Amino acid sequence: MPPFRDDLDAKSRAEIIAYVLWLSSDGRLPDTIVAGDTTEGPGTSSSAVNPSAQPVAVGRGSGIPARGAVLFFDATKLYSCRICHSYGGKGGPVGPDLIDMEKTPLQIYGGLIQAGRSAPGFPALSVTLHDGGRIVGIQSESTDDVLRVFDVSSLPPVKRSVRRSEIAHIAAISDRGIYEHATLPFSKQDLIDLSAFLGKQSAAARGGSHR
Ligand code: HEC
Repeated sequence: MPPFRDDLDAKSRAEIIAYVLWLSSDGRLPDTIVAGDTTEGPGTSSSAVNPSAQPVAVGRGSGIPARGAVLFFDATKLYSCRICHSYGGKGGPVGPDLIDMEKTPLQIYGGLIQAGRSAPGFPALSVTLHDGGRIVGIQSESTDDVLRVFDVSSLPPVKRSVRRSEIAHIAAISDRGIYEHATLPFSKQDLIDLSAFLGKQSAAARGGSHR
């Protein structure tokens, strides 16, 4: 079979995968692979963002914002940041859009390497079903009839939908364990470059220091 990667765009591929998952899902409500927008990163014509190639101080290290932007949007990796986050509206819906972070690069770096508690607005849930099944993920939109969660137990995330009538019990998870940033396979320098990209440089000038 010829590779269909060349003929189908990311959205069509995600729809085919979602359909195959649904076929094997026992008639449950459909699951959707969350496909972050991979076609455009910052610096393209539709975006005003133009990350600098000049180094930015991140604590005792120094990061290149432009390199962080490439890592953030890396379409060749299933675990790149844009699979969960958007930046200026481009990317995935699981975490917050990170274009307007009011933090210094060093604060961002600190947040990425430390185990954190899940933030309000992104409740992590463990959902036990009457049939014994369990779904763990970050809550997405839900209705009186259906609960949707982003299952991040493997990447890319899968949006799962369960009928309320199927649910036996819902428990909140207070730590970030299910999507701990520190466990993503990025090097220390990668995280420094990403922090340089996401942090506010003016704030960095106040708080950062040069080596
Ligand atoms: C599996 C999904 C997922 C991936 C992959 C992911 N994140 Fe997150 N991230 C989240 C969620 C959900 C939150 C919001 C809840 C929280 O802060 O715990 C978050 C929060 C953050 C925050 C804090 C935002 C704030 O308002 O303080 C930063 C910064 C961040 N992520 C950066 C990154 C970077 C950089 C990457 C890539 C190396 C990345 N994330 C990859 C899910 C993810």
